[in-house]
This record gives sequence, structure tokens and C-alpha cells, in this order.
Amino acid sequence: MTDTSQPLLYQARSVLEEWGVMGPFDHALVLGTGLGNIIEDVEGAIQVPYAAIPGFPDNGPAGQPGQVVSGYMEGKRVLIYGGRAHYYETGHARTMALPLALLGILGKPPVLLTNAAGSVKSTIRVGSLCVITDHINFSGLNPLIGDREEGRFVDMSDAYDNRLRRRLKLAAIAAGITLNEGVYMWFSGPSFETPAEIRMARTLGAELVGMSTVPEVILARRFGLRVSAISVVTSYASGFEDVPQQHGVTKDITIPAAAGLRRIIRGFIARPDEI
Ligand code: HPA
Repeated sequence: MTDTSQPLLYQARSVLEEWGVMGPFDHALVLGTGLGNIIEDVEGAIQVPYAAIPGFPDNGPAGQPGQVVSGYMEGKRVLIYGGRAHYYETGHARTMALPLALLGILGKPPVLLTNAAGSVKSTIRVGSLCVITDHINFSGLNPLIGDREEGRFVDMSDAYDNRLRRRLKLAAIAAGITLNEGVYMWFSGPSFETPAEIRMARTLGAELVGMSTVPEVILARRFGLRVSAISVVTSYASGFEDVPQQHGVTKDITIPAAAGLRRIIRGFIARPDEI
């Protein structure tokens, strides 16, 4: 289990300082599978492998090592987590706790989480982008289980910040890119959902399903961060088509969608906060 004890947190911050990575930051990003190319937009980038930072997950996305990247985008100071660990890899819902806790002592920047997700509705097409408005956590898991402090009773009534969401939408409009909206339902994975589970997700009000993000949102709220999240829709969920679910998103889908997401993120960072 990832430890967020004070010594480990400050140790992680010192290691980053030794590499030249220092807060405060204006924005933080967590990059999901296939979305790493946004790092090319960072000016004056300093890259630190997760393996060098105490308490960080030792794995990255799909065989690539995870890395922290700091620098400037649109004149703003950004800290990027390129790669996340998932519950299904570690057995711990707190697996991203330390990287998120670290943001709490690096200026509390708002965090934008990105992921690849499956669509539960035919109107949300494969290859499109979808801003997450809310989530459903029916997993029985919670990264705050075992947290002994009063702050564990986190308000989730506006977990996905309205002003950040509006800002993402305006950035998408300015870039001429369609940005859908939807509720994301978390499944632990690593097996994909059954068709019956997807029918349930649809009935319960989900538009998207995926294996990440939800524990990170809960942790980020616990650490007092404002949160927004965008999914790249990489497949229709189980039972939609006569095609088996497959891990590893095809480049045909992610490359154009990731390019759109990259433009939205730049516009989002450049814009002031919406009222
Ligand atoms: N289910 C869960 N996670 C996913 C899917 C899916 O259909 N597609 C991409 N990530």
C-alpha cells in the first residue's frame, strides 16, 4: 500500500527538488494510456522517473516506465504524472495516493485526470472525447478505507469541479472539437465487464466505464485539490458489438483523439478560471 506518511511525502519532495522540480505549480495532469504525447508541449521539461521517487508506483502505462515531467505550458507552471498505477495491478485502491498527496504540498494545483474508457451509449462514439461530470463507485473499494482522520469523510457532491469543466468545454469549443459529457463508472478490472454488467451500468446512469480515475478523484478531493477529468473513448463496452473486448488501445483511435485532447489541454491551461 502506498504510504503517505509525512516523512515519505517530504522525502519525495526533496528528491524532486534534487532533480530541479520545485513547486508551486499552476496545473497538474495525470496522463492515461496512450496520452503521453502531451509531454512534447512542455517547455523547459525536467523528467524524473517514478522509480527515483520514494513512494511512487514502480510501474507505468503499458510497459512504459512512469515519469514526472515539470515545466511550462502556455506560460503556466505544470506538473505532469505520465503514467498511473491501477488497482488491478497492485490490489490497493490507494496506489496513487503519494503522487496526489504531493500536489497538496506543491501549491495545490487543480488536477486534470485523463484516461481511456469504454462507451456504454451509442451516442458517445469511439474516438470521441468525454468530460466526466460525476462517477459511480459500486466496487466496494475506497482508497480512504483505513484513513483514521476526520478528513476521511470527503464531500463528493461536486467532486468534478464545475468551473474547471466549463473551462474545458470552452477550450474544446475554441478548438472546434466535440466534447461529450458523461458519468464514469469504475470497475476494478483487469477482466472486462460482462454484457449484463454493462446493461446495469447503463441503467444506473453511466455513459462510460473504466478501470482507473475514481480512486484518484477521491484521493485528490481528500487532499483538497480541485479535479476535472476527460476520457478518450477507445471502445464500446461489452455486448455492444460482436467484437471481443481487447486491452491495448489501437493507435487508429488514440492518435487523433489524443491530438484533440492535447489542443483542449493547451487551451484549458491558457484560459482563466470560469466563474
Ligand atoms: N471497459 C473498461 N475499461 C475500458 C474499456 C471498457 O470497455 N475500454 C477502455 N477501457
